[in-house]
Amino acid sequence: MKKIKLVSTLMVVGLLLLLSACGTSKTGSSEKKTLRVVTDAAYAPFEYQEKGKVVGFDVDFVNAVAKEAGYNVNIEHVGWDPIFVEIEKKTADFAVSAITITPERQQSYDFTVPYFLSKNEILVPKGSSIKSAKDLEGKKVAVQNGTTGQEVVEKLFGKNNPNIKKFKNNNLAILELKNGGADAVVADNTVIETYVKNNPKDNFEFIEDDTAFSKEFYGLLLPKDSKLKPELDKAVKTVIENGTYAKIYKKWFGVEPDTQTLKDQQ
Ligand code: ARG
Repeated sequence: MKKIKLVSTLMVVGLLLLLSACGTSKTGSSEKKTLRVVTDAAYAPFEYQEKGKVVGFDVDFVNAVAKEAGYNVNIEHVGWDPIFVEIEKKTADFAVSAITITPERQQSYDFTVPYFLSKNEILVPKGSSIKSAKDLEGKKVAVQNGTTGQEVVEKLFGKNNPNIKKFKNNNLAILELKNGGADAVVADNTVIETYVKNNPKDNFEFIEDDTAFSKEFYGLLLPKDSKLKPELDKAVKTVIENGTYAKIYKKWFGVEPDTQTLKDQQ
């Protein structure tokens, strides 16, 4: 009799434990906050639209970071200039868009620790006389307005030089080159090289110039003094440290990332 009583008590205790475990896990996940993340999904392979969905390296990366930090995310394409308005007004929690960490932007916004190494590069039709950044002088160059691509060309040409043709997104800048309205495009190396590879019929090639263009690092863009920064910093570091970053990087680029350069920059 005693034994039966003990067994049934244990069963009740076990059942209660089980129920309470279910309870916590359930409220845990339903209480996960959803963050509003904004992007300019016209920058393959980082962010672009496929069948109405925003996809790309940045999307996979942010999903991993959010999971690590315990958030759900809703990534919405709003366009490049609107990103900065949304973050300034705090209508979005953060932005991902291959955004270079620059001292000017740091005056008005916060960034997480770096997650990607980049550099500007030149896109030209094959056989172009342009072989370096210096050769761009006197030529029409298409850039995405408000990017570091525009900045580096302004450095070469002077700020309001009419040969700098500015576009709302990078795809429009490339279209201008295709249509003969520009002699070159300057944008981030990974984007340019992906375009060349995926569009062989366009007969474009890319030109690197390490003397004219310097290293840049991407960060997630946050409102100034955002409380999310420490949490996201920690999650970015973990994702880079625990191999998740390398997995995503290999999926998109087929090679191992140089995580040491990123870590050195943290
Ligand atoms: N990395 C460059 C910058 O921050 C270009 C980024 C453009 N990104 C985009 N999704 N259109 O200025």
